[in-house]
Parts: sequence; C-alpha cells; structure tokens
Amino acid sequence: MALTTTSTDSLATLDTPLLAVPVFGTHDAATRETDGPGAPTMPGALPAELYNALRNARSDLRANAGAKTLVWSAEGVDGPERLVFIGVGKRESELTAEDVRRFAGHAVRQAEALRIEGLGILVPSLADGPGIAAQSAAEGAVLASWRFRELKTGAGETEEPTEVTDVTLVGDGEEFDAGAENGVIIADAENVARVLQSRPGNVATPSHLARVAEALGRDLGFDVDVLGPDRLKEERMRALLAVSQGSEQEPRLIVMHHRGGGEGEKPLVLVGKGLTFDAGGISIKPAKGMEEMRFDMSGGAAVIAAMSALARLGVKRNVIGIVPSSENLLGGRAVKPGDVVKTRSGKTVEIINTDAEGRLILCDSLDYALQFEPEAMVDCATLTGSVTYALGNNAIGLMGSDDALVEEVRQAGERSGERCWTLPMWPEYRRQLDSDQADLQNVGGRAAGTITAGWFLREFVQDTKWAHLDVAGTAYGDGERTSYLRKGGYGVPTRLLVEWVRGRA
Ligand code: BES
Ligand code: MN
Ligand code: ZN
Repeated sequence: MALTTTSTDSLATLDTPLLAVPVFGTHDAATRETDGPGAPTMPGALPAELYNALRNARSDLRANAGAKTLVWSAEGVDGPERLVFIGVGKRESELTAEDVRRFAGHAVRQAEALRIEGLGILVPSLADGPGIAAQSAAEGAVLASWRFRELKTGAGETEEPTEVTDVTLVGDGEEFDAGAENGVIIADAENVARVLQSRPGNVATPSHLARVAEALGRDLGFDVDVLGPDRLKEERMRALLAVSQGSEQEPRLIVMHHRGGGEGEKPLVLVGKGLTFDAGGISIKPAKGMEEMRFDMSGGAAVIAAMSALARLGVKRNVIGIVPSSENLLGGRAVKPGDVVKTRSGKTVEIINTDAEGRLILCDSLDYALQFEPEAMVDCATLTGSVTYALGNNAIGLMGSDDALVEEVRQAGERSGERCWTLPMWPEYRRQLDSDQADLQNVGGRAAGTITAGWFLREFVQDTKWAHLDVAGTAYGDGERTSYLRKGGYGVPTRLLVEWVRGRA
C-alpha cells in the first residue's frame, strides 16, 4: 500500500474519491453531560458546501465511535468527491493513539465498502503531538488494508475484494510526515508477522521461518544466524530437540542481530516461540479447533517482524532476536510423558505433559540468550490456554523478574495499543512445578496455568531483567479485533516490541 501525506491547506483541492473526517464526541464519559451541540474542528480550507454537509452530519455522530455518515460533494466543486464523517466517540482533547488507529481503520473499511481503492484521511490532533497522530493513522490504515490472499486462486470467486492501495494522510509539519513514515514501517512489519502467522503448518515450517528471516536480514541489513540439528546438539539444547524429535521437520534456532548501538553496548534481547504446528505431541490435543495451532508461532513471527522494523527504523540500539522453531507432533520417536530431559542450563525437567512444549523450546533459548549478557530480555509466546480464561482476548498476560521492566513493557503496550495486564509472580506459585524425579516438571496443574508457565521460564533467566508476554489470547482470533484488524493473525505483539525498544533508544 502506498501512503503519502499532504497539508491541510490543500484540502479544498485534494483530488480523492473519499475523504474521512473525524467527528468528535461532546459528552463527558463519566457524567454524560454534554458540551452542547458540539464543535468539531473543521478545516477552514474545505469548501463551504462541505462545511454545511458536516454541520448537518455531526449531530448524528456525536459520541458514537465508528458511526458513519457519507455525503457527496456538489457537482463541479473542487476537492474530495465524497466525505465520510466518522464518529470517534470522544472529545478531541481525550483522544488517544488507539482512537486514531481505529478511526483510520473505519475509514479504510468505508472505502472497501464503496469499492474505492484510494482515500484521504484527515488526521485528528493528539496531546502526544502530530508525530504520534500520523504514526497511529498510518498504522491503522496499513493494518486495515491487509488481507491474506496468497493461497486463493480466485476460482469460484465472482468478484475480488477491493484492496485499498493509496492513502493520503492530511496533516501538517515535518513531525507529522516523519510519524507517518514510522507508522508505515511498523505496520508493514506487523503485516509480515500476519503473513507468517497465516501460512499453514505445511508452508510455514521451521526452515521456512528461518529462510524468511534470512531474506529479511539480507534486504534490510541485519545479521541472521540459523542453527540446525547439529549445532543445536553441540549447544546441548536438548529440551528444544526433545520437542522436535517426533517430527520429520528439522528444528531451527533463528538468531538475528540488529547492530544499531555501540560496539560494547549490552543488547536488548527479544525471544519468540516459533512452534509451527502444535498437535500436543503424545498428550494430543482434541481435534476440534486444532487447525488453530498453526498460529503457535505467533511470538516468533512478531520477533522476526520487530527485527525488520527496528532495522528499517535505524533504531540506535543493539538488539538480538531469538526464535526457537519446531513442530510438536506424535510418532514413534516422540518425547513421552514422564521422560526427563537435561536442558541447556543443566537443570533437569520431567515432561509430564508433552503439550506444554512452548516452555521447553523457550527455556533452552532463554539460556542461550544469557551468553549475550542482555541489558534486558522480553519473550513472547502463545504459551497457555489459561491466559484466555484470565484475561479473555483483550489483554496480553504480562509478568517478569523485575518490576520496573514489567511496568516499562506494560506502558509500551498501552502506547502501541497492544495492551497487557500484569499477573503476580509470587514464589508460592513456583511450588506447583516441584517434581519427584527432576529439578522441575513442565506443568503446574490447572490452577494459575499462565503464572506457573511464567515461573517455568523464570527458572532459566538467572538474574537477567526479564519480562514474559503470554499472547495466546491476543495474537490471533476469529473475529474483527478492532476496525483495523481482520480475523486471523493480528501480528501481536510486534508493535509492542518495537515500541519497547524505541523507548530505550
Ligand atoms: N500452544 C498452546 C497454548 C495455546 C492454547 C495457545 C490455546 C492458543 C490457544 C500450548 O503449547 C499448550 O498446549 N499449553 C497447554 C499447557 C498445559 C498442558 C499445561 C494448555 O494451555 O493447555
Ligand atoms: Mn502445546
Ligand atoms: Zn504450543
């Protein structure tokens, strides 16, 4: 998708089939008191005919996020052919970055409904400044226009769905233009994650993920080192190898280096679960919905995507991305419940349930990461079904070894619109992982499954500042998550990871 910017001065002559105009709310969220008829900021540059149209439309739209009114411009008048007024549900002064993403998403949906491929979006201002406003609008528009079509041949289709290919963001200043560029880079990356998520298990294998990472590294200028079975054995990564031993597909450890900082600067490390299909292993999953487990590499996809965004943004930090990738299948060689493996760290693990495989491939990867002496480390994984019981589909489960880091990651989640909720990591939970035979077991029972999974990982980070994101409830879904995310892979937590690193640059 091509995204450009133009100044508000040019609105009156903006040659576009559709211009999206935000209409602000006039009610106090708490008291419901109204400010009166409402006075949305109206760009003076619009022709009088359009100004009148807005005056009539706005009263229908106040306070209702996503409500739309469409008007046609008068014959022979310069400027946009049509305007869509879109309610944003809040007063202008209360607007957040996420409101702007959603507004842009609604704008793109309106264009699609009209079968229009290009549109202008009048970007509202934000307290955070024009850069963030433009970035958010660009993110919303680029994410909204994405579709996964590569496996469709068009056979039996009467009409291809409209693809929005041109977006013009209307706003002023250098900060605005730079913000728009950043937003495109970040959303493009998130769309890369969504492509990888959407590819089925027979396409997106561990070696496929590795090849994609290598190609991105070559194109964008970051180094990629891929470890196959031999080097994984040399590295004693037996927990990762144990998960993959029931599969014909070889495992991979993908290690990406973005060298944006000084020579001796300690890196930030991102680790993502790249389980390309999770059948559960010998502790097999129920058949219903098992196809969803193609998304079990969502954390890995987000890390690969985040690395590509950091490279394109030229972020001045050293960042290392690590993605352990494997399948989790059944077979004569598969790991069995009760098997004990010695992890890379030296700790022994009793595998009670082969379906708790994510923590096994991650524990060796976290231990592998320690050699880089991370300043801080964040991992992300579709790790537990329990996180959906705890938080539903609206919050990432967040925990970690360092309160300040956890809070920092939480705030990056708020800013990026990939929100987190912090779960407690009290030592009491650790006891659920005590094993009769080994140093620890890989499951902690039904209670607090997300936290005990987090505790399992924590056993492998030593004293590193570390945070963990359980994205099992948020990385993908079968509905429109917001106006800008269609069902399927949502690319979560790509934006959060990029925002966290940028916050430290
Ligand atoms: N990949 C799953 C977690 C998952 C479940 C992600 C549902 C998305 C939707 C993970 O490998 C898993 O199977 N976890 C088990 C852990 C249990 C055996 C302790 C789970 O959540 O049931
Ligand atoms: Mn599993
Ligand atoms: Zn899994």
